[in-house]
Amino acid sequence: MGDHVRTYTVAHLPGDGIGPEVTAVAKDLVDRAGTMHGFTIDWRPCPLGSKHYLKTGEVLPDNVLADLRKTDAVLLGAVGSEEVPPGVLERGLLLRLRFELDLYINLRPARLRPGVPSPHGSAGMDAVVVRENTEGLYAGAGGIVHRDTAFETATEESLNTRAGVERCLRYAAGLASQRSGKLTLVHKTNVLTNAGSLWMRVAHLVAAETGVQLDYAHVDAACLYMVSDPGRFDVIVTDNLFGDILTDLAAALTGGLGLSASGNLNPEKTGPSIFEPVHGSAPDIVGTGKANPAGAVLSSALMLSHLGEAAAALDLEAAVDAVLAAGGATSTDAWATALADELGRLGGVR
Ligand code: IPM
Ligand code: MN
Repeated sequence: MGDHVRTYTVAHLPGDGIGPEVTAVAKDLVDRAGTMHGFTIDWRPCPLGSKHYLKTGEVLPDNVLADLRKTDAVLLGAVGSEEVPPGVLERGLLLRLRFELDLYINLRPARLRPGVPSPHGSAGMDAVVVRENTEGLYAGAGGIVHRDTAFETATEESLNTRAGVERCLRYAAGLASQRSGKLTLVHKTNVLTNAGSLWMRVAHLVAAETGVQLDYAHVDAACLYMVSDPGRFDVIVTDNLFGDILTDLAAALTGGLGLSASGNLNPEKTGPSIFEPVHGSAPDIVGTGKANPAGAVLSSALMLSHLGEAAAALDLEAAVDAVLAAGGATSTDAWATALADELGRLGGVR
């Protein structure tokens, strides 16, 4: 064998709505970064989502899941469609993937990038939200009794296992140690006293062991501080639903959903992690050419960093920063061209 080229197998799961539009741009940039940095991606198309479901009735066939398990990563566009009842794809595809692959961390950086206006004119935010991704109110415990009677009762139970809480806090503490050393637990310990107590006790143990400085905010106050004093946060750790809500708020404060990236991580790398923009399928703008691919590109940067291609990840980040600093772009195509140009320039100056 001659020169050794690193190769990664990545499933491309474009999904619904604008998912295919934004991931096409991200894929192209990842390939360009690969050429610059000496790796190739063996892309495996994975056509799941609403169209596949409406045609076949399949949401996530077992053989497809088995194939996904063998990949190094998954690049996902968006899941959800108005033609499919709520929950079918969200629970059956996205959440099932998170649970089956045990992707217990949902990592969502929230940084106000240069050139992006802060919506309320205050200081910018540079935080990372570590969202527990396999438990809590998302676990699916609960049910409906006395359906369609006057006594109908619906419950959703929040499941918090000690092991699940601890592994999430340990990951967040590790990240905090690499950053400012400060970790903020967000919960609602004054009302959710059972789960809150578990999270708080384990957070103190992990903080004592790792030496991170532990701070705490109730989730309602955390929303207020995110707007009024975002500088108080660095690494935030929280449960599944609080993290879902807080990360949309964080996105709004850092340039909107179009710029927000996420990684559903298996930190031990015993299987693939899934990278997806925080935005949804955005059916209102499908086909208009207006979808912003930056969230998908930044999610791909998280993917490259997770795969060990840190230099390529930094280049993708830098390309997005450069386009934003020049005023951004107004269409998917304009973004694609501008990002490719900036990436080429980064390659040229090396
Ligand atoms: C997200 C989304 C999902 C979630 C939905 C689509 C199930 O809102 O990734 O934040 O609630 O986790
Ligand atoms: Mn969400």
